[in-house]
Amino acid sequence: MPKKDEIGKLEKALLEEAAKALKNAYVLWGFGVGAAVLAEDGEIYGGCNVESWVSGLGICAERCAIHHAVSHGNKKIREVAVVVGARNKAEIKPCGACLQYISDFAENPEIKIVTAKVEDGKVLFETVKVNRLRELLPQPFKNE
Ligand code: THU
Repeated sequence: MPKKDEIGKLEKALLEEAAKALKNAYVLWGFGVGAAVLAEDGEIYGGCNVESWVSGLGICAERCAIHHAVSHGNKKIREVAVVVGARNKAEIKPCGACLQYISDFAENPEIKIVTAKVEDGKVLFETVKVNRLRELLPQPFKNE
């Protein structure tokens, strides 16, 4: 369980936007994922996974949300939320590719990645977990 002070209004807003985006997940062979990012302009941008029959052509929810933020002129993100349906047994964590992408756009390596399960469109707050990007990806690729 996250510490009380880690789940604030912002985390709730991010998780709720991610739950909204989850409804639009385009699923052909996997499962739905919703994500949301807080961008440098102070806005929250949602995204969902979009699958293709050709593996590698689809996109994860996290990168979709980042593209949404970037296409509105943002170059940095401050926090990330990711949700999946409650029936999904797997513990949701961004995949390695998404962690690298989050790192590419993160304001700093300590940004929070908040996860939760969703049932009937509602965030199950008892399932919320808070991770830091640095914990999940301690050594991101950088070429600067
Ligand atoms: N997926 C995401 O959207 N985010 C992740 O972090 C992990 C996996 C998607 C990819 C695929 O469409 C579905 O979840 C099942 O693997």
